Amino acid sequence: PDPLIMLDGSKVTSKEQWFKQRRPELQQLFQHYMYGYLPKAAPISWTRDGVKDDLFDGKATKKEVTIHFGPKGTPPIELLVVVPNKAKGPVPVFAALNFCGNHTALADASVALTKSWYRGSCPGCEDNKATDTGRGGQVDVWNIELIIDRGYGIAMFYYGDVDPDKRDNDFTDGVHPHFFKQGQTKPGKHDWGAISAWSYGVHRVVDYLVQDEDIDKDRIALVGHSRLGKTTLLAAALDDRIALAIPHQAGCGGTAPSRGKVGESVERINTSFPHWFNDTFPEFNKQTDRLPFDQNCLVALCAPRPVLFSNAQEDQWANPNGQFDVLKAASPVYEFLGVEGLGAKEVPPLEKLLNSRLGYYIRPGRHSMTTGDWKIFLDFADRHLKGS
Ligand code: GCU
Repeated sequence: PDPLIMLDGSKVTSKEQWFKQRRPELQQLFQHYMYGYLPKAAPISWTRDGVKDDLFDGKATKKEVTIHFGPKGTPPIELLVVVPNKAKGPVPVFAALNFCGNHTALADASVALTKSWYRGSCPGCEDNKATDTGRGGQVDVWNIELIIDRGYGIAMFYYGDVDPDKRDNDFTDGVHPHFFKQGQTKPGKHDWGAISAWSYGVHRVVDYLVQDEDIDKDRIALVGHSRLGKTTLLAAALDDRIALAIPHQAGCGGTAPSRGKVGESVERINTSFPHWFNDTFPEFNKQTDRLPFDQNCLVALCAPRPVLFSNAQEDQWANPNGQFDVLKAASPVYEFLGVEGLGAKEVPPLEKLLNSRLGYYIRPGRHSMTTGDWKIFLDFADRHLKGS
């Protein structure tokens, strides 16, 4: 579907109409039919702790911020913020959701272990609890020292703080039950699933970051891998305080077309992970052509902000070629708004970053997030956030 055609068939003819009518319409449609509506923003409060200013031989300072939000009893988000010491003012930051807890990304004994339900496949997991043995187990995934050396900060949180990603997630833990109306026991047909909930968590983190004096609030990038890449794209589409988005290997339900024929299908994802979306999305399992949007429209909601899709050749499950088509079909909105969109007609060669405002990257290898990937994320951010 053409993002520049309204649901009633009329064409968008001005920037004002895009921002005042079509963009809100698409935001509603995605929530209504696919991800579920996020609740209204709830005011946050926070406490800061765990400050240490001598990380990486004195190059960086960390703090740990507990962010409270929502009705009483809603579990807080534990945010780890690390910033470079040599910065002369507020720094651009990568906000990020992680799969395995902050203590796996930064090997420092003072980082708090998550108290939330913990993923079985994560380092040091015992009975779905995080333990000290997992500390530093994902340093190579997160590359915080590299991020610091390149002049950026990072602000990350464990996605399970917001909604534990259990296979049989029935919305009895995490944020959902705290937002139910009296007598409600599960989300309604159009209410938020897990991806919306994680996105809502990101938005609360952004509420905090725009008030943190170490952070440049106009240069907040968001990164997430896979299901957290899907979350990244949705969170950015709904919140333009996020200046740049990197949904890495996000695939179906994120960066790949729902109408795609390669890799994971809508039917398959709704069957394997029913809690990620709302209860309306499965009605499209066998008729994705009836969706009033495809994922190109979700990217278009980010316009004119930079978005990078990055992929791996062996990760055909995420349909890397289909993702390029998604960018192609989002690009007209960028051009309509008077900025550069996708800067090529064909998928770039392996390991060659297409560094246009709608960017694309594919490397050899499999579904993972690596140091090499971070070098690309940083190059993309250098051009689009730092103008270099
Ligand atoms: C599965 C799922 C994908 C998802 C991935 C992940 O492979 O099918 O849609 O992106 O898990 O989040 O790791």
